[in-house]
Amino acid sequence: MNKLNICLAGATGWAGSALARRIIDTPDMELVAAISRSHAGKTLGEVLGVEGLTTPIFGRVEDALQTHPDVFVEYTKPDAAKAHVLSALRSGAHVVVGTSGLSTEDYAEIDQVAKEVNRGVLAVGNFALTAVLLQKFAEMAAKYISHWEVIDYAHAEKKDVPSGTARELANRLSHLREAELEVPLERIVGPVETRGARLQGTQVHSIRLPGYVISIDAIFGMPDQKLILRHESGTSAEPYVSGALLAIREVGNLTGLHRGLDSVMKF
Ligand SMILES: NC(=O)c1ccc[n+]([C@@H]2O[C@H](COP(=O)([O-])OP(=O)(O)OC[C@H]3O[C@@H](n4cnc5c(N)ncnc54)[C@H](OP(=O)(O)O)[C@@H]3O)[C@@H](O)[C@H]2O)c1
Repeated sequence: MNKLNICLAGATGWAGSALARRIIDTPDMELVAAISRSHAGKTLGEVLGVEGLTTPIFGRVEDALQTHPDVFVEYTKPDAAKAHVLSALRSGAHVVVGTSGLSTEDYAEIDQVAKEVNRGVLAVGNFALTAVLLQKFAEMAAKYISHWEVIDYAHAEKKDVPSGTARELANRLSHLREAELEVPLERIVGPVETRGARLQGTQVHSIRLPGYVISIDAIFGMPDQKLILRHESGTSAEPYVSGALLAIREVGNLTGLHRGLDSVMKF
């Protein structure tokens, strides 16, 4: 069997370690390299407590790419993600992006490089099936309802705003139309920031408080009626694993940037 060689950046983190544990149990995949600065030089088995797992951990993307992965998975932090993705593409790998916080401009650059090197990038703000469904239902709603806003909730330590799920949702809805505002932002009386950020035609509000995990509300309003689509994540990283495996398997069939897991799902 021809195995898919994978390099996983962030393999020691909360989301990355759950994915790493599943990849090593997947017969058609081989985890050839991991990236983590604080565990560089160790094996992933030592860090995750998995006997016999000899995947080397590298501190720098350039060293990890010497293992020539077919697919590079980015699961670190927004400040490192773009450089990792561009290096991986230029080394000949296809790329799956799970990291949140990349901007529309970052994705435009990634798309351009991916097309230049004839490789695929699949960026997924939320790999959980229920979150993918929320995005699809929101697209259906936006066809009929012209007014909507998004609220993104997360734990107090999450630095990047808005969440990857919210960014992806705003991006998708922008392909349909921009949300209408009864009172345009320039006519607001009071601090305009309280109306949230306008992101690709959607007002997005980010709440960061202790007590929250990750959730999102997409609220569609019409006179005397409203539709609230809500997604809530639990505390484990398990819901993201199956979607990430699907993305890893399918990204090799893509060229250029694709956003959202439904790019490789049948609906
Ligand atoms: N798409 C989805 O469905 C989904 C699901 C969950 C999380 N996420 C996103 O995935 C990202 C990771 O989340 P997490 O909760 O797993 O974070 P985390 O627990 O803090 O783990 C981050 C991982 O990345 C490594 N890392 C951080 N900065 C790095 C750098 N500059 N260079 C190389 N490695 C670096 C860390 O190792 P060292 O510190 O040792 O370098 C660690 O292995 C976040 O952006 C999060 O929002 C997305």
